[in-house]
Amino acid sequence: MGQFITFEGIEGSGKTTQIRMAGKYLKRHHIPFLITSEPGGTPLGRKIRKILLNRDSYGICAEAEVLLFSAARVQHVRDVISPALSEGKTVLCDRFSDSTLVYQGLGRGLDHDFIKGLNDFTSAGLKPDLTIVFDLPIEIGLRRAMERMRLAVSAAPDRFEGEDLEFHRKIREGYLLLAKQEPERFRIIDSAKDVISINREVCSYLKGIYARKT
Ligand SMILES: Nc1ncnc2c1ncn2[C@@H]1O[C@H](COP(=O)(O)OP(=O)(O)O)[C@@H](O)[C@H]1O
Ligand SMILES: [Mg+2]
Repeated sequence: MGQFITFEGIEGSGKTTQIRMAGKYLKRHHIPFLITSEPGGTPLGRKIRKILLNRDSYGICAEAEVLLFSAARVQHVRDVISPALSEGKTVLCDRFSDSTLVYQGLGRGLDHDFIKGLNDFTSAGLKPDLTIVFDLPIEIGLRRAMERMRLAVSAAPDRFEGEDLEFHRKIREGYLLLAKQEPERFRIIDSAKDVISINREVCSYLKGIYARKT
């Protein structure tokens, strides 16, 4: 089985930037890997992602939201993540079940144990070997996300980026709480630092996980 590594953190914390750089590190070391993301990662997931992130006029209640994310996840685990791990590949995943726990649990206020059960169901018992949380003050993260949006074609915040500061604060605190509960799985990186320093830290954690395996 390959290593399953998830990248978590608030909007604009640098997950996508760092996952790409981590991929380059694995490539340099001739470690077979796959980079994927949630929601997305499969054709079904990409359709669901559009529904979830678009700020259309119709409502999506918290209960519907968690089930949509879950539908995307179960397909992703079955079709992409599990097969790659079985082939011995390292899977780098941009968001996974911890996102559901913090966004739909703490953020939307759904029952924590219910989401845990749902996560177990959708991930078929699959747990990340390592989860890196990119932690930074929400104001910096949101500023970066806004700047990224300004540079991109679609210049409108998605449903989550458009939430108020209190929501994002809860998400940040939620990740720190999860990390405290499972210190052996989580690593927290101060993401207010520059891209290269953060990458160095990510690589040291990757190195650690391969050293642990052998
Ligand atoms: N350490 C950093 N310092 C400054 N800007 C950064 C840093 N990491 C990423 N960025 C920039 O911030 C924006 C958000 O980064 P991104 O990787 O897309 O975050 P996420 O995927 O977590 O939402 C991008 O425009 C990116 O270039
Ligand atoms: Mg991203």
